[in-house]
Amino acid sequence: MPQNKIAVYNLKNNKGVSIDITNFGGKIINIYVPDYKGNLMNINLCYDTLPDTVNGDLYLGALIGRYANRIAKGRFELDGEVYILKTNGGAHALHGGEKGYNAVIWNAKQENNKLILTHIDKTGTEGYPGTVSVQVVYELTNDNELIISYQAKTDKATPINLTNHAYFNLNGVDSDSLILNHLLKINADSYTPMDHTSLPTGEIAPVKDTPFDFREFKLIGKDIDASHPQIKNGKGYDHNFVIKGELNELKFAAEAISPKTGISLKVFTTEPGMQFYTGNYLNIDEFGKKYIPRSGFCLETQHFPDSPNKPEFPNTILRPGELFESKTIYKFGLTGMS
Ligand code: BGC
Repeated sequence: MPQNKIAVYNLKNNKGVSIDITNFGGKIINIYVPDYKGNLMNINLCYDTLPDTVNGDLYLGALIGRYANRIAKGRFELDGEVYILKTNGGAHALHGGEKGYNAVIWNAKQENNKLILTHIDKTGTEGYPGTVSVQVVYELTNDNELIISYQAKTDKATPINLTNHAYFNLNGVDSDSLILNHLLKINADSYTPMDHTSLPTGEIAPVKDTPFDFREFKLIGKDIDASHPQIKNGKGYDHNFVIKGELNELKFAAEAISPKTGISLKVFTTEPGMQFYTGNYLNIDEFGKKYIPRSGFCLETQHFPDSPNKPEFPNTILRPGELFESKTIYKFGLTGMS
C-alpha cells in the first residue's frame, strides 16, 4: 500500500552503498559509499534527522518540479493563454514556486531496492495549468547506480521540467572541506549564458577558451573566481550546460572525482541539459549543520531554464495523451575503477 505519512526509506546494495530518502519532497538524505580505504563516507549534503530535513533548507537532495530552474518573471504564454506563476526567485519563478515538488508529501511504496514516489499536482497549483500525475522511481543497483526515472501525464498542456537537487561533496560531507579540489569533466561543447538575474539570454555559447570548458578533467576551483562576466553573473558556476548527444537518449553527462577519497561520481541522462551549480547561495547554519558556498556541487539534469519563453530551446510542453519520461543515473565508484 502506498504511504503518505512522512517516513524514511533505505536503499542498500551488495557493495555496501546505502541511501536514505524521505517521501517529504522526495529528498535524498544521505548517500554512503566506500572510499579508497573501504570506509563508508556520506557524500550528500544533509541534515541528521527527519524533522530537520523537513524544516531545513528547501532544496537539499530534493525533487524539483513542476518546472526546474527559472521561468522569466513567472510568466509564459501557451496555446494563446497567458499564465502567471508565483515568483519566488527574485523576479522569476524558481523550482516550481513557493511549494514545489520539494515541499510536498509524496505517496511512497518501497519494493526491495526501489522507492516509488507518486504525486498528483493539481491544476492551478502555483499558477500552472492542468493536473499532472507524476511518478519518480529511485532505484539502487548492485553496480552502484542510483537510477532516477521520472514519468508524468497531464490533462492540459503544461510546461514540465523535473530534476533532483542533491548537493555532493565527494571528500565526504563531514570533512569540512570544500569541493574546489574536485576534478570535473562535463560532456558539453556549449552552455547557455545568463544575465545577472540568472536567466538565460537565449544564446548558446561555446565553452572553448572560457572558464566553462570542462571537456577534459579540470579542478572545479581553477576558474571559479575568474573575472569572466558569466562567472560574475552566477557568483561562480550556476549554468546550464548543453550535453552532447541525442535528446531522450541516455548519454554520459559528467564525472567528478575527489582526489582526497578517490570517490568518483558519473552522471548519465536522457535530458539535453545539466545545471552545474557550486552552491554559490548556500548559507546554512542550523540544526548543527554549517554549509557555505562551495560546500557542495549540484549536477541537475534538466531541460534548459526558461524554455517556455525561449522557443529556440528544446520543447518542455507536455500535452494530454503524451507520456513524459526522463532518466538520470548517478553512478558511484572509485577513481580508475567503474
Ligand atoms: C539554481 C540556483 C539556485 C539554487 C537554489 C539551483 O538549481 O541554479 O540559481 O540558487 O538552485 O538552491
